[in-house]
This record gives sequence, structure tokens and C-alpha cells, in this order.
Amino acid sequence: MNPIQSFLLALPPETAHNLAMSVLSSARYLPGKATPLVGKQSTFLGKPLLNPIGLAAGLDKNAEAVLGLARCGFGFVEVGTVTPLAQPGNPKPRMFRLPEHQALINRMGFNNHGMHAMARRLNDVRASGRLNGTMLGVNLGKNKDTPNGEAVSDYVKGMDCLHTHADYFTINLSSPNTPGLRALQHGDALRTLLSRVKERQLTLAGSSVPVPLMLKVAPDLDEAEVGQIAEQVVACEFDGLIATNTTLSRDAVAGHIHGSEQGGLSGTPLTERSLEVVRQFRRELPEGVAVVGVGGISCGQDARAMLESGAHVLQIYTSFIYKGANLVQKLVDSTSEV
Ligand SMILES: Cc1cc2nc3c(=O)[nH]c(=O)nc-3n(C[C@H](O)[C@H](O)[C@H](O)COP(=O)(O)O)c2cc1C
Repeated sequence: MNPIQSFLLALPPETAHNLAMSVLSSARYLPGKATPLVGKQSTFLGKPLLNPIGLAAGLDKNAEAVLGLARCGFGFVEVGTVTPLAQPGNPKPRMFRLPEHQALINRMGFNNHGMHAMARRLNDVRASGRLNGTMLGVNLGKNKDTPNGEAVSDYVKGMDCLHTHADYFTINLSSPNTPGLRALQHGDALRTLLSRVKERQLTLAGSSVPVPLMLKVAPDLDEAEVGQIAEQVVACEFDGLIATNTTLSRDAVAGHIHGSEQGGLSGTPLTERSLEVVRQFRRELPEGVAVVGVGGISCGQDARAMLESGAHVLQIYTSFIYKGANLVQKLVDSTSEV
């Protein structure tokens, strides 16, 4: 571990996060362009991708550090979750480290500055012309106070506000920290939401190419639920799926001092479960629907296993916190031959 990493991990988790974000956001003052590391090249959602390693949503909720994160070498960076209105999220403390498990538990609750602040920042990033090939995803959520029955209007507002800035949108229905959100992953609620989002995508695009749509799902699904979600993803012509978000399961961390904190668990305890969910979705979905594998990827072996399970590309979050930016190069190298 390098000294900067050790220093950050000695601070309380959210303090370390804020400090790292300020450093990364000041990278916009550095000269030159931010270009992804070159690894296994592919086409993702119709655009060229220089490597398959992406940053997962939740680290840069407000798009404050896009250029700094792009300089870490990621092939793609997903910002958000952003909601229409700014909201403070849950009371602190709301992020916990479980280093023995290379894991985190968080119950941030979509703390963010709102979609208009993000649009201004992404406008500056795009206008700077310094994002040199890093794909930019925007992860959309609903405000805590918006009832589930009106949730679709929050996702549509996010699309209206941000569609000129995003290379793809992620419809996030899988955070465990917004009460009731995961219920939208099922039945009529899912069908209605995905079809209205699809309609809006086509309306916004007019005669130009629509911004691709991804659905982000929880790992806490049984096989029947995976089948039903896959059916709706295909019926509503979504472009892909991101599996998975954090888990509510605590089996792997039982007995840890933070093991029973409320929220979502991420990192190594999630590796096997996310692999299994990706495998199940891959079996259910046609080849043309992209699958992004995320959850507990922390070394080359995990990354290769996720690609072999059927993911087209990968994302990381927790391992980036524990291991730092050097990990991106390692993962890019280790996936070059797969
Ligand atoms: C502190 C924290 C905040 C997160 N916030 C979000 C979020 O706002 N939106 C989202 O879709 N996922 C969020 N996630 C989930 C990650 O994007 C990712 O799906 C999950 O952590 C599993 O990947 P990992 O094991 O590599 O961390 C968050 C994760 C963490 C640890």
C-alpha cells in the first residue's frame, strides 16, 4: 500500500472520501487531456472503449472529479446517483470500513447536489474537450420524498436535464438506502417504469441516436426474479444491465464490529454473489444486451472470472478505496488477454 493510501485509510471513511475527492477534483487544473489506459479494446453501447475497467457509481455522486478520475485510467466513469433535487442523505456516520473483509457498509442515502448542479459540471467537462475517450455514464435515482407511484417522473426529469452530457444512463432501482426503491425492480412497477423511461429516451433523441439505457440491479434476487427482470429489460428495449449493487446479506461479515450496521455491503464478500447474478442474467438475456459486472472485483483473477461469467465490461468501487489508482492498471493488464 502506498503512503497516500495508508494516510487516507487512517482517517474516518467519509473524511477520507471528501479529501480524496478534493484532490481528484483539483486534477482539472493539470495541463493535458485525460486518456484511458489502453487494454482490451471493444465497442460498448455503440462506442469504442479503450479498456473494460470502469468506475462504479457512488464515488463521484456530483461529477466533481470526472477529469481526475479519468486520469486514473478508467475506460469509463459513472457519476451519480443524482436525483432531481439536492438532498442531504442519511445522518452520519453512514459509511463503515471492514478492512479484514476488504469491504464497506454504506447507507449514504443518495446524498447529492441535484441534477442541475451536475449538468453545469458536466457541461464544463465536455466544453473543456479534455476527456479524451473516457466514456461517461450518468446514474439516475429518485428523491427520498418522491413516492414510488411518482418515481418515474424523477427518472424522466434526470434524463431531460442530463441527456446531452451522458454517454449512457443507468436507471438505479437497487440502492438499499432509499426506502422502498428496490420494490420498483418487480412486477407492474418495473414494467411501467422501464417502458416510460424508454418512451422518453426516444422522444428526447428525435432523429438522432438515443442515449443508451442501463438498469442497475441488486444482488439480492432469486432466479425467478432474475428471469422476470431480464424479460422486462428485453421487452422495453434497454441496452444493458449493471449487476450488482450492494447486498443486504451479512453472512460473510457476521461478528465484525460493524457487521450489523444497516446499509449495503460491498467489496470482497460480494464477489461470488455478483458473479452468480451476472451468470444468471447472461443466460436469460440475448447477446446484444450488454452486461456490466460489478461487485467485489479486487484483483486480476476476479476481473477475469467476471468476464468469463459473461460480463462485457467491469466496474469497481470498494477495491479502488482499499488499493488506490494502481489497481486500475493491474486490472487493465490482467484483462487484456481474456
Ligand atoms: C460508499 C458507497 C456509495 C455507493 N453509492 C452508490 C450510488 O449512489 N449509486 C449506485 O448505483 N451505486 C452505489 N454504490 C454501489 C457501487 O456502485 C457498486 O455497485 C457496489 O459497491 C459493488 O461494487 P464493489 O464491490 O466494487 O464496491 C455505492 C457503493 C459504496 C461503497
